Amino acid sequence: MNRPQVLVARKVFPEVVERLRAHFEVEDNPQDTIYTREQLTARLQGKSGAFITGSERIDGALLDACPQVRVVCNMAVGYNNIDLAACSARQVMATNTPGVLTETTADLGFALMMAAARRIPEGERFLRAGRWTRWSYDMFIAPDVHGSTLGILGMGRIGQAIARRGALGFGMKVLYHNRSRLEPALEAPLAARWVDKRTLLRQADHLVLVLPYSADTHHTVAAAELAQMKPSATLTNIGRGGLVDEDALAQALREGRLAAAGLDVFEGEPRVNPALLALENVALTPHIGSASLATRRAMAELAADNLIAALGCGPQAGRPPSLLNPEVLG
Ligand code: GLV
Repeated sequence: MNRPQVLVARKVFPEVVERLRAHFEVEDNPQDTIYTREQLTARLQGKSGAFITGSERIDGALLDACPQVRVVCNMAVGYNNIDLAACSARQVMATNTPGVLTETTADLGFALMMAAARRIPEGERFLRAGRWTRWSYDMFIAPDVHGSTLGILGMGRIGQAIARRGALGFGMKVLYHNRSRLEPALEAPLAARWVDKRTLLRQADHLVLVLPYSADTHHTVAAAELAQMKPSATLTNIGRGGLVDEDALAQALREGRLAAAGLDVFEGEPRVNPALLALENVALTPHIGSASLATRRAMAELAADNLIAALGCGPQAGRPPSLLNPEVLG
């Protein structure tokens, strides 16, 4: 019997590609070329499944041009690169990698929040430039993190993991806003309190964005929201760049209407808005929230588990462990 053909669209751990080769005819991408839409369409001809990352956009037109594709497996928890409705309409399964990256991503979010709040990148640039000649009482003076109010917008797994770090490690008061309230059993150990978005913006000393990106959450924080925040507050974004209006953010930071920002994600990344690059009070990282070796490995293994199960192999044959659109299974 012919084995299904699959595409691994970006370079990933060789052992994960080898695991897939035990089940499939695999076309991989050891050069790590980022395929154009045309190249991706061409590479997907005859393929039953695709192992993709956030750099591959999957929509209805692409699926129509690649009718054999039955499953797309994202090596990411966010899946705004996949048009889920278009997948479901064509009976194409879509999967992501939830759970395995929660703690690692929360670590990065917390680190970035602290780096922004305590002006660490700014201090390092100052030191490396040879400008540190003496101590002074107000050098790099900054807001405290411990004991302050942590605001979390988007209280899913990663939001809760950040809340735990803030409440249990740093004695922070935790406020959050989410479409739905957490169960009291989850709120209680953190003393986390659901508030409306306006209250969150007004009261947070350190606001962290961890909500999924979609048309509904585009520019969730724009000029009007920034205007409600305290001038001493920080904003950290580890969700997706499009959650924030970056021009409005840069303006607020430039005008001292917000103390600092920590950004791991950018609208149009890897391009970074020059207005942000020009500012001292922004800590910037290149979308590395989940980038620990163990976590990236776990994400790749989970994406492979999904692909193997979706195409009818392995112990979970037929039902991928993190299927986003179970309706396609009927
Ligand atoms: C990373 O941004 C992810 O969604 O996993």
